[in-house]
Amino acid sequence: MAKRAVNPNTRPSKEEMEEFIRVQRLGTKTTCFFNNKGGVGKTTLVSNLAAELALSFRAKVLVVDADPQCNLTQYVLSDELTDEIYSSDNPISIYSVVRPLSLGKGYEMELPVRTSKEFGFDIIIGDPRLALQEDLLAGDWRDAKGGGMRGIRTTFVFAELVKRAKELKYDFVFFDMGPSLGAINRAVLLAMDTFVVPMAIDVFSLWAMRNIGSTVSVWQKELQTGLSLAEEPSEVAELSPQGRLAFLGYVTQQHKERTGYDQKISDETGEQVKVRRRVQAYEDIGAMFPAKVSESLGSMYASEKMNPHLGDIRHLGSLAPMSQSQHVPMISVAGTGSYTKLRKQARELYRGIALRYLENLGAA
Ligand SMILES: Nc1ncnc2c1ncn2[C@@H]1O[C@H](COP(=O)(O)OP(=O)(O)OP(=O)(O)O)[C@@H](O)[C@H]1O
Ligand SMILES: [Mg+2]
Repeated sequence: MAKRAVNPNTRPSKEEMEEFIRVQRLGTKTTCFFNNKGGVGKTTLVSNLAAELALSFRAKVLVVDADPQCNLTQYVLSDELTDEIYSSDNPISIYSVVRPLSLGKGYEMELPVRTSKEFGFDIIIGDPRLALQEDLLAGDWRDAKGGGMRGIRTTFVFAELVKRAKELKYDFVFFDMGPSLGAINRAVLLAMDTFVVPMAIDVFSLWAMRNIGSTVSVWQKELQTGLSLAEEPSEVAELSPQGRLAFLGYVTQQHKERTGYDQKISDETGEQVKVRRRVQAYEDIGAMFPAKVSESLGSMYASEKMNPHLGDIRHLGSLAPMSQSQHVPMISVAGTGSYTKLRKQARELYRGIALRYLENLGAA
């Protein structure tokens, strides 16, 4: 499929805004960004794509940090605010949503939402204590599969969160997740309409895709069995319907594979020299991606017509760490000289991904 040209202006064009408005009219869209392989750029993508939709398209976006590592929260909040919040014994966070359920108290009514001026979106901050809920959710999943109401309720915890977000009329709800196929991520995935897979171009990503496709379909079947056996069918009917969970696309990353040098003995001088790392393997695997993606995730495509490749994240040099230390999206990093060019590249990159994301949502 031909690459779409990106409007170099800061504001989206009229056509681009129309595409956004078409999707906006469809109501709240929920997407999680998931890969059980770590360090593939999930958090960076969620934050910058959400910022692009919020700042350029004026979308109302809620981002939920469901990773106990809290990297997204640290990225978005200032260092002072992070210290202030997490110095407290009981920070108000995603844990405040999950905890009441584990105590058998039912769903929390209020969403603990904060607003980030720099990123333009609302956030439910992460919590290291979420890791402690992993075992509990795993136990409850066994209960849910047998139709137990406690298990079904906790399995639907994020679906309930989404229900509240819909009442608050968010255009998009994004979930950032840790790199695992564990119980927390299962509960998140089962609550979403769509998922996007950020991946590095390597053989492990091909494995990750296969794992995601097969695991998610087993979970969906098990949940259906559990719901059909539910002890209290009337309560199940009132719980949020789970998301359809369709695959919306993948984003490839160049930032790891293209960096670095190898040592080599020079044929001419016999001395050790530094050479740029070979990218042939990268290109060979990259060429296999479209076929492998459709083989592993084809049955879950949001639309048969869509192009699942949402974009390729190039290495943006020191813009990435600078945006982390300044706690701003890449497009807003302060700096002159090379930063002017990098900012423009970041703008084009995330605008392009946003447009393909909207296009695939519109086609679904
Ligand atoms: N376009 C980019 N250019 C340069 N560096 C990048 C780019 N995107 C991400 N990075 C860097 O790569 C590292 C990993 O990214 P990130 O934290 O987003 O991955 P992740 O998949 O969320 O990791 P985890 O599995 O631990 O949650 C970060 O240090 C980030 O700054
Ligand atoms: Mg992350």
